[in-house]
Amino acid sequence: MTILEGVDNEATKAVIALDERYVAHNYSPLPVVAASAEGAWITDVAGRRYLDCLAAYSAVNFGHRNPEIVAAAHAQLDALTLVSRAFHSDRLAPFCQALAELCGKDMVLPMNSGAEAVESGIKVARKWGTDVKGVPEGNIVVARNNFHGRTTTIISFSDDETARRGFGPYTPGFRPVPFGDAAAAADAVDERTVAILIEPIQGEAGIIVPPDDYLPRLRELCNQRNVLLIADEIQAGLARTGRTFACEHWGVVPDVYLLGKALGGGVVPLSAVVADSDVLGVLHPSEHGSTFGGNPLAAAVGSTVVSMLRRGEYQKRSTELGRHLHNRLRGLIGHGVVAVRGLGLWAGVDIDPALGTGKHLSMRLAERGVLVKDTQGATLRFAPPLVVTAEEIDWAVDQFADALADSRP
Ligand SMILES: Cc1ncc(COP(=O)(O)O)c(C=O)c1O
Repeated sequence: MTILEGVDNEATKAVIALDERYVAHNYSPLPVVAASAEGAWITDVAGRRYLDCLAAYSAVNFGHRNPEIVAAAHAQLDALTLVSRAFHSDRLAPFCQALAELCGKDMVLPMNSGAEAVESGIKVARKWGTDVKGVPEGNIVVARNNFHGRTTTIISFSDDETARRGFGPYTPGFRPVPFGDAAAAADAVDERTVAILIEPIQGEAGIIVPPDDYLPRLRELCNQRNVLLIADEIQAGLARTGRTFACEHWGVVPDVYLLGKALGGGVVPLSAVVADSDVLGVLHPSEHGSTFGGNPLAAAVGSTVVSMLRRGEYQKRSTELGRHLHNRLRGLIGHGVVAVRGLGLWAGVDIDPALGTGKHLSMRLAERGVLVKDTQGATLRFAPPLVVTAEEIDWAVDQFADALADSRP
């Protein structure tokens, strides 16, 4: 089967053929070619409209081309875009102040991609281990089935063989333990442990919500053993689950927040490590950096995102509409759906394998005008932009029900 099978439009075929020829094949996208988007909707080169139920893995939480964010970006484009960190800009400090206050922390280390924030968090934890805790080259406890990005160090502690194979040698110093098992984390911590790094809810693993006592027990463990709790909120955070941070569901405040994706408003790559000065203060000039990290354009967008989060309306939408989404999806259990997990407008849906793979169902849904992403073989992720309406959710779930019915053997 070729990637173009079933694609009936010449413009779509032409772009996909060009993509196949010139773009490295490190992804396997659905045969949909986006040309424009607004709110929760994407329009393709053939003029077909799709309800976006992926939201660029939470990077488009506030909707495509959110007017408030786009206005801030336009204004900044007309003033100043990049100076590097060799000079100050009038945008960076106000952004870092606003983000630090949102997180209840002292300082922000601005970066670009999510993986960079994770890498930076790891470096900060190791430096903190060396300078503050007195354990140079300390270890970091991580969760099995994690997803924290694609750099060589990050894939070194991934369980995904496709992401690892052929990319060695790997970075040492990580101790994987089962996600959700606080006792296993406690067993893995020793006197040389500097941090526990987790996703509060595992996204790529299939939207796995841990037991209620997991994060509180990790918090207690970190307090007792003088270990940093690092929460990768890159996909789960910034209103996706109905709270500003997913950790809030369990009343837990980590020592270090890793943020990304939605922080850039779906407009620019913007990520951050946020922590108190006794942690981030371990970084001194020339020890870490990035040319684009904290650039004025990204900082202006990030400031707008923080002020939108402060209003709480996106968190409220996610809670209320998430309840609706989960109720509707749970109604399909026994009709092609095996399980539904998640919080807020974030749902992992396990499909009966007899109906085909997640990829197969994603294709059938795209034909019906709904864009979702499969993960782990037979799981579909529903994560629409938080501007989606209840009616749009109903329509998407109706399409899903029809696609499941059509896929029955
Ligand atoms: C939890 C988590 N951390 C880190 C990343 C990496 O982010 P990026 O793709 O921007 O490097 C992702 C991306 O999906 C993620 O879900």
